[in-house]
Amino acid sequence: MPHYHPPKIASSEITPKSLYMRRREFIGAAAGSFTAMALGSQALAAPLAAKPSIYKLDEKLTSKEDVTTYNNFYEFGTGKDDPARNAGSLNTRPWTIEVDGLVGKPQVIDIETIMKEIPMEERVYRMRCVEAWSMVIPWIGFPISAILDRVEPLGSAKYVAFETLVRPEEMQGQAGLFQALEWPYVEGLRLDEARHPLAILATGLYGETLPNQNGAPIRLVVPWKYGFKGIKSIVKITLTEQEPPSTWNRLQPSEYGFYANVNPEVDHPRWSQATERRIGEADGLFGGARINTLPFNGYADEVASLYDGMDLAKFF
Ligand code: MTE
Repeated sequence: MPHYHPPKIASSEITPKSLYMRRREFIGAAAGSFTAMALGSQALAAPLAAKPSIYKLDEKLTSKEDVTTYNNFYEFGTGKDDPARNAGSLNTRPWTIEVDGLVGKPQVIDIETIMKEIPMEERVYRMRCVEAWSMVIPWIGFPISAILDRVEPLGSAKYVAFETLVRPEEMQGQAGLFQALEWPYVEGLRLDEARHPLAILATGLYGETLPNQNGAPIRLVVPWKYGFKGIKSIVKITLTEQEPPSTWNRLQPSEYGFYANVNPEVDHPRWSQATERRIGEADGLFGGARINTLPFNGYADEVASLYDGMDLAKFF
């Protein structure tokens, strides 16, 4: 039974919001990015229409408040509340994604073209962070294949590499002396994983365009993998023959694998992955009520066959 319906958007809601956005642009232009930061990235969210899909869950949604204020986005700081506070400084228009590498038709695709030409669907997915917390999020997005088909991957292409924007002027975690990670944040999938219908590029959540802190204007969502695979604010997609680097694997290969499939039987070297804490659910003693983590985050029926013949304990 679906228990979530995208909010009905009355025209009376649209008008004030668009007026508000225009006012924001005006103020932003007049007073510079400080004003944009003060107003916060929430001001940028706009209603986004999406068709319902078969991908729903009979589990309680994590509140929009938690989804948009408890984030990992190190380009804006390493604290969970840093991205919501700091990501308003990011300009997400104009925005293009360069798609190149082993493809017949390399191209630069404008985000407006994507929003106009590719049908958006709502996908309610579990999201399991490697840090052992989880959420249930109503994303809006589309299968990655919709982009791959446009560029016509060559037979030699085996992997898809993704890259986040580098813009220290607008991403304060990339500026200054302390840099938490090596930029750009990079991630990758095997081509068959990227072509799986569950793997999407998300452009929205909770019936609206993505808030900046969640990876506006476009980010990866692969629900059977740990959350760090879900690279945000993507500007480049490259088809490759070799397995591409991924940020957390490069930083600490003994702790974060390229595959990063959710697996309750393979512990992180420093903690168990057998259970998880659902954000927003009743917290008990010692870090809250925990639920069991499911193989492939509950998507084993759909995706386990992608890994036939692989020893999944080895390819974490
Ligand atoms: N993408 C970029 N560019 N930078 C990041 O720091 N953090 C990752 C992933 N994508 C990250 C990123 C991690 S560790 C997680 S758990 C998810 O984003 C968090 O997504 P959310 O904040 O939308 O819940």
